[in-house]
Amino acid sequence: MAIGIFDSGVGGLSIAQQVRTLLPHEEIIYLADSGHAPYGEKSQQYILQRCSKIIQCLIDKGATLVVIACNTATVSAISALREAFAIPIVGVEPGIKTAVKSCKSGVVGILATTQTLKSASFQQLAQRFSNEIKVEAQACPGLVEQVEALHLTGDKTQALVAQYVQPLLNKGADHLVLGCTHYAFLAPVISQVAGPNVSIINTAIPVALEVARRLDAEGLASASAAAGGESFFSSGEQKLAHRQFNALWGNTVKVESF
Ligand code: DGL
Repeated sequence: MAIGIFDSGVGGLSIAQQVRTLLPHEEIIYLADSGHAPYGEKSQQYILQRCSKIIQCLIDKGATLVVIACNTATVSAISALREAFAIPIVGVEPGIKTAVKSCKSGVVGILATTQTLKSASFQQLAQRFSNEIKVEAQACPGLVEQVEALHLTGDKTQALVAQYVQPLLNKGADHLVLGCTHYAFLAPVISQVAGPNVSIINTAIPVALEVARRLDAEGLASASAAAGGESFFSSGEQKLAHRQFNALWGNTVKVESF
């Protein structure tokens, strides 16, 4: 039994890290579809095809619950995937609700991919809070690529972040919701650009809590007292994949191709 976690690339490691912290005895299989990233500019049909292939691959490797650690894939494909596969599937969506609770300016900014923002499920999510708050959304093409290339700091990354964050600040946002799991690795730069009065909202911890809840509810939680292991797979170029996982997971790990 294992928890299968996947993303269009290495962004979902931000969720896998929280799952590991919360559930130290569970086996984790992480699959990065870096060879096909970014998903954010692709069609819904393409994303659904990739996700179906990846979930089958995770099941073949022993996953009994799957986490779509990608906002873009969740909004594009989770309903169809839940119909197609019998195992529990947990997704991730921008944490607007958390931001609304503590927002004082009346404006919440969302940073996400083009595909996430134009999806019907994001529109519905934003609509749900439209009586309480103004939701200002900003598509951020290029940021996923900066994280995949491990350019987490530096002039180009800083300039791109400023280009996307500044308009939201100008509109009065006092919360910035990270609506893409890759952006968690850019949180220090985003925070630096936004300044100390703006809160950054990441949904990795709520997703890990939901995984724990589902494992318990489905009777899938590990009974072992031993530490759970991790295995990592990437469809991307192998040399880069090793650098990515070693940098972002924080340990030297083996990465296999799939
Ligand atoms: N990490 C994915 C997300 O949360 C990135 C999508 C992409 O590859 O563009 O949306």
